[in-house]
Amino acid sequence: MSADNERSAMDWEQRFRDDTTPWERASLHPAARDWIDGGQLKPGERVMIPGCGRSPEVVEFAALPMQVVAADLSQTAIAWQGEALAASGVTAELIVADILQWRPAEPFDAIYEQTFLCAIPPRLRGEYEQAVHDWLRPGGALLALFMQKEERGGPPYGCSIEAMHELFPQERWIWPADADFTAYPHPSLNGKPELGGVLIRR
Ligand SMILES: C[S@@+](CC[C@H](N)C(=O)[O-])C[C@H]1O[C@@H](n2cnc3c(N)ncnc32)[C@H](O)[C@@H]1O
Repeated sequence: MSADNERSAMDWEQRFRDDTTPWERASLHPAARDWIDGGQLKPGERVMIPGCGRSPEVVEFAALPMQVVAADLSQTAIAWQGEALAASGVTAELIVADILQWRPAEPFDAIYEQTFLCAIPPRLRGEYEQAVHDWLRPGGALLALFMQKEERGGPPYGCSIEAMHELFPQERWIWPADADFTAYPHPSLNGKPELGGVLIRR
């Protein structure tokens, strides 16, 4: 395992090199479609996609057009995104980094991520909450997809709504009603549902 991955649960770079990536969706996440249609993802706004892997949202959001910054530990995944952007004739800023320790020069209007929080070791979740809070402007949106999973261990690590309320406290985040989250079953990963909802940074 490379030094870059010491803080990670698995060797992501090797997974991309081996093309062993069962978390990937072939097309735009239905939640992303709903948030574009609902105006939570707006043309012109700055959006961050942490742990982007080879997800199609980087190109799709850049084409809206949004100002996209996408980051991943994996050089191979980021190189793939560079080629996908070039092939589509759109642009985004791509970063290879342990993104939990990165901070932007300018805050973001929105953060979109899928299967990233559930992929990092739970002991790093406090760092994740601090990072996304620092990245967003006050009033900015965390477009959350919380992976639901009962079994222990991972990745993916389960992100129950109770655990997420503890991680994203009311003093720092405005929550939707729990009943307003939408369940999106994953097409692989045994159909585990992700609960999609929008948290606003105070
Ligand atoms: C389960 S994959 C999800 C990839 C992508 N979001 C998708 O849905 O296809 C988790 C991703 O997070 C990346 N990752 C894990 N820890 C990271 C970290 N600390 N900083 C940046 N990327 C990280 C991995 O390289 C991998 O691409």
